[in-house]
Amino acid sequence: MPHRPYIVGNWKMNGNRAMLAEARAIDRAAGRYPDVQVALAPPFTLIGALREAVTAMGVGGQDCHAHAKGAHTGDVSAAMLVDSGADFVIVGHSERRKDHGESDGVVQAKADAALANGLGVIVCVGETLDERDAGKAVSIVAGQVDASMPVGEGTSDAVALGKVAVAYEPVWAIGTGRVAAVSDVIEMHAAIRARLIALYGEAGEKVRILYGGSVNAGNAAELLAAQGVGGALVGGASLTADAFLPIIAAAGNGEA
Ligand code: 13P
Repeated sequence: MPHRPYIVGNWKMNGNRAMLAEARAIDRAAGRYPDVQVALAPPFTLIGALREAVTAMGVGGQDCHAHAKGAHTGDVSAAMLVDSGADFVIVGHSERRKDHGESDGVVQAKADAALANGLGVIVCVGETLDERDAGKAVSIVAGQVDASMPVGEGTSDAVALGKVAVAYEPVWAIGTGRVAAVSDVIEMHAAIRARLIALYGEAGEKVRILYGGSVNAGNAAELLAAQGVGGALVGGASLTADAFLPIIAAAGNGEA
């Protein structure tokens, strides 16, 4: 892997204060693998408490609004994420795109807001099963990358600093136990890299491309070793230290 691997847990709408003990255990493991960048994105309600509870790992949001403040009931801005202790945010997750009708343009505006506020950003892309079956997976994902990645002022600096990542998450692999074939992951990550270089020039090499979708202790080593895979975005298997630690260890090429 050309970059320091990036292993990110997305807790989605799971977690309460009792789960901070899991986060502390994950953080201790992160401290044992300094060559792996580890982060957790809990629900908004836990960001502040998680920030206080951990030292070695990053803490992020799962979404942010594109605007700084105002009449947007229920939304949280990038500045508010920073204020509560987050250092990055995930945008454009397929669950947001589906449940909240977020278009590529909306995702891009959120990514721009994240960078403008100094957050790192992980932009999610991925095809549905119908799109893959129709042979359109690569063109769909390439189109999402072109239209969702940040383009605002300061983007080139953020890209050069490694603060921008893409997560390739085939929708049909999320929470299903069905993982993409390694050869398909390699093909897609190469296609995404080509789009990133088209967008950002040579600096596009600095954008880590994570795989997400049913990553677990059993498949992490193979996926993380695949050409072009710079890390993993992990849902279900990031909820407990027991499940998440072997994935961190796999990225560090060591024993848990
Ligand atoms: P699972 O690891 O539960 O499949 O979720 C993947 C995901 O959506 C991470 O963002």
